Amino acid sequence: MNEEKIYQLSYVSTGCDSLRYEDIKNILESSNKNNSQDHITGILVYCNKHFFQIIEGNREAILEIFNKILIDSRHDNVIKIQEGYIDKRQFESWNMAFKSYNKELKDLDNFNNEQFYSYINSQLSDKNNISMKVLADFFDLNG
Ligand SMILES: Cc1cc2nc3c(=O)[nH]c(=O)nc-3n(C[C@H](O)[C@H](O)[C@H](O)COP(=O)(O)O)c2cc1C
Repeated sequence: MNEEKIYQLSYVSTGCDSLRYEDIKNILESSNKNNSQDHITGILVYCNKHFFQIIEGNREAILEIFNKILIDSRHDNVIKIQEGYIDKRQFESWNMAFKSYNKELKDLDNFNNEQFYSYINSQLSDKNNISMKVLADFFDLNG
């Protein structure tokens, strides 16, 4: 893909009280379908009712999907962490990588811990990228 500028955005949010396995499964299914059409890549982490997500792609596509995510009733308290242009995609192999810390969601994971940890470390060279640091911290604290 020949891309000029990649826009990346990250946020945290709180899953709604009634959130179930099926809801997360549906979120991942629509994310994979839509993101592949819109050339969006990224990662979603779920831990103790909280989501952390990084999405990257064309700026307009990112802002459009983020506006949908903001009003999604499956979560609330959406707090943006970082947004801006980056040099290159950091999750180019995944329309939506998924990592969960809840046992009952483990079969939805598409990463194993070691693979993931070494991948994140390899991406940490950009000291200004707060999103990657938050992701790494998630791992150090919870992995
Ligand atoms: C935590 C969270 C993350 C989401 N991430 C994405 C995403 O990366 N891409 C996406 O298309 N929809 C994502 N969604 C779902 C959107 O809010 C919305 O429901 C979906 O885009 C609607 O698409 P559909 O009409 O094809 O189901 C997410 C929802 C939640 C709660």
